[in-house]
Amino acid sequence: MSNTSNKDIDLAIRNVTKQYTYQGKIFTAVDKVSLEVPKGAFCSILGPSGCGKTTLLRMIAGFIEPDHGDILIGNKSMMDVAPNKRPVNMIFQHLALFPMMTVGENVAYGLMRRNEKRSDILQKVKNMLGRVGLPGASDKRIDQLSGGQKQRVAIARSLILDPTLLLLDEPLGALDLKLREHMKLELKQLQAEIGTTFIYITHDQSEALVMSDFIGVMNKGRFEQLGSPQDLYYRPNSAFVASFVGNNNGLSGYTSEKVGDQYKIDVGSGVCLRAISTYNLTVRQPISVFLRPEHIDISRTKAFAKDYANQLSGKIADILFDGANSTIFVDISGTGLSLKVALPHTGLDMSLVPGEQVFLGISAEHVLAFPV
Ligand SMILES: Nc1ncnc2c1ncn2[C@@H]1O[C@H](COP(=O)(O)OP(=O)(O)O)[C@@H](O)[C@H]1O
Ligand SMILES: [Mg+2]
Repeated sequence: MSNTSNKDIDLAIRNVTKQYTYQGKIFTAVDKVSLEVPKGAFCSILGPSGCGKTTLLRMIAGFIEPDHGDILIGNKSMMDVAPNKRPVNMIFQHLALFPMMTVGENVAYGLMRRNEKRSDILQKVKNMLGRVGLPGASDKRIDQLSGGQKQRVAIARSLILDPTLLLLDEPLGALDLKLREHMKLELKQLQAEIGTTFIYITHDQSEALVMSDFIGVMNKGRFEQLGSPQDLYYRPNSAFVASFVGNNNGLSGYTSEKVGDQYKIDVGSGVCLRAISTYNLTVRQPISVFLRPEHIDISRTKAFAKDYANQLSGKIADILFDGANSTIFVDISGTGLSLKVALPHTGLDMSLVPGEQVFLGISAEHVLAFPV
């Protein structure tokens, strides 16, 4: 990579590995991980609990040393730089605000420790509280704030030190659902306005999809896929990513035939699905198949399904009404298969009832097929 493009990379992780020894056994928590995050990006690291996210973040912050590899922030290796000398700040789930101090004192804390001039500190605190949407809150006590406001104070307290990277470890985890939904949008907006590079850790795929420019999906200490939310959702490159990101019907089967650029995949009960796969599959190879509920079209009439590579019919077993996220469960005729189908918003949604016969259409490109 050329020097000019290197300048725009705020974080580079190069082949980083961390092993723990636990009860005499060696366990690889982070396994040869590499990642580059451009300046100003909202980057999420998404993965199930225990996959190594916090370990990776703590290595970026300097609290844990990697066994191998290098971590560069703003083009400078951090390997011999102490945590308090790194241009990073970390926000934890519990926020760690000082309850006995006012909002202003909390936000000023880092600057006080740096012995900056009092008048400068006051000015910076005022600016920063304005930027996070809390103007005039300086004299409030922490316990007078809502959960969302506390979050903003924690961010203000970090950003006032002007870090190159803000590291966030599941910061919304302790909030109730409604506030979490709200904070997702707020955090994304705040990051876009402020422009600081965010490294955001979460096990919640919806958080990652909504907020990120760029996501690394982590599984067992490795990145399974790096890409935009759209890449991960529409073009998952592994069964793990397909099942972890977004809602799905998961089926298993094997390739029975290759026809042109399509594969026929036998998923049992006499059902063969046509799929387009980015993998080079061989005949009789075991396959995991994923169908997104919103990629299955549903109709009362058979003619409707004639343009689809995959056509099925069945009976509505159940309808789970959840407004715009409603789901229809369809038992496929003559098989033991049941598929979740997203309720379309076409007017049909108003009148479908359990027990009705319906026809389903799925295009080959929407049948995601991966070798097991
Ligand atoms: N200090 C430690 N000693 C031994 N094992 C650890 C230690 N810290 C974490 N682990 C293990 O490493 C794995 C990754 O942990 P962590 O990075 O906290 O994952 P995540 O944040 O994705 O939930 C887990 O299996 C965890 O049990
Ligand atoms: Mg963690």
